[in-house]
Amino acid sequence: MAEHSGTNGVGILAASLRRHLQRRQRAGIHILPREQSAGIEVSFGPNEDLAGFDLAAPSTPSFKAKTLEELRAEIGDCRLCKLCSGRTHLVFGVGHPSARLMFVGEGPGRDEDLQGEPFVGRAGQLLTDIITKGIGLKREDVYIANVVKCRPPENRNPEPDEVAACEPFLKKQIDLVRPEIIVALGKFAVQTLLQSKAPISKLRGNWHRYHGIKLMPTFHPAYLLRNPADKKLVWEDIKKVIKELRGENA
Ligand code: URA
Repeated sequence: MAEHSGTNGVGILAASLRRHLQRRQRAGIHILPREQSAGIEVSFGPNEDLAGFDLAAPSTPSFKAKTLEELRAEIGDCRLCKLCSGRTHLVFGVGHPSARLMFVGEGPGRDEDLQGEPFVGRAGQLLTDIITKGIGLKREDVYIANVVKCRPPENRNPEPDEVAACEPFLKKQIDLVRPEIIVALGKFAVQTLLQSKAPISKLRGNWHRYHGIKLMPTFHPAYLLRNPADKKLVWEDIKKVIKELRGENA
């Protein structure tokens, strides 16, 4: 998960995303959260298939929360795993409470721990570029969360007991947001949500389902900072997400 400083090819994805966005803007296409999208050509309705379906069951301790704010309050000063001892902030999640599109990462790094917001470091900037320049949305239009809410020391991988302790929070967030599409960023998000041990390189680029929600696995932005040649693969995956948001695969 560590964000390394190599910059080779960092601009390739951004340039490709920028060109795509310019084409989309010329075509007048915008993809908005559900309640803002009525009447716009790319809109599609609330995820009614999922209404009344507790996405978090059965693995989740029962939360009373009916909103993200209430869930955050319920989590409080969480002490469920050893990551609590090293954190500055518990990084809950950010974005539109009924976003059509949700991104799930692995866990906070140093910048996120300091600021209390997911994906604000270098990998976060790349994710922001994908959202804004690629998809043509604002960060506030989507919802962004992580599998673990507290920073693992030295950005090591989260350990199984830490994922197990924190995973119910993510599942409840998904239950409350009820996005139409989840983009799972990297091995931990994908394996946690799909309960699969298959490598991300095998899973990425194909649609999967998480409790009825379309899920697209792709590489983590921090991986892309180290392996910029694979940005073109992520762009392929993101193009599939854009098509789905526009209802072009219906
Ligand atoms: N990497 C993640 O997986 N999540 C963040 O919030 C930041 C970097």
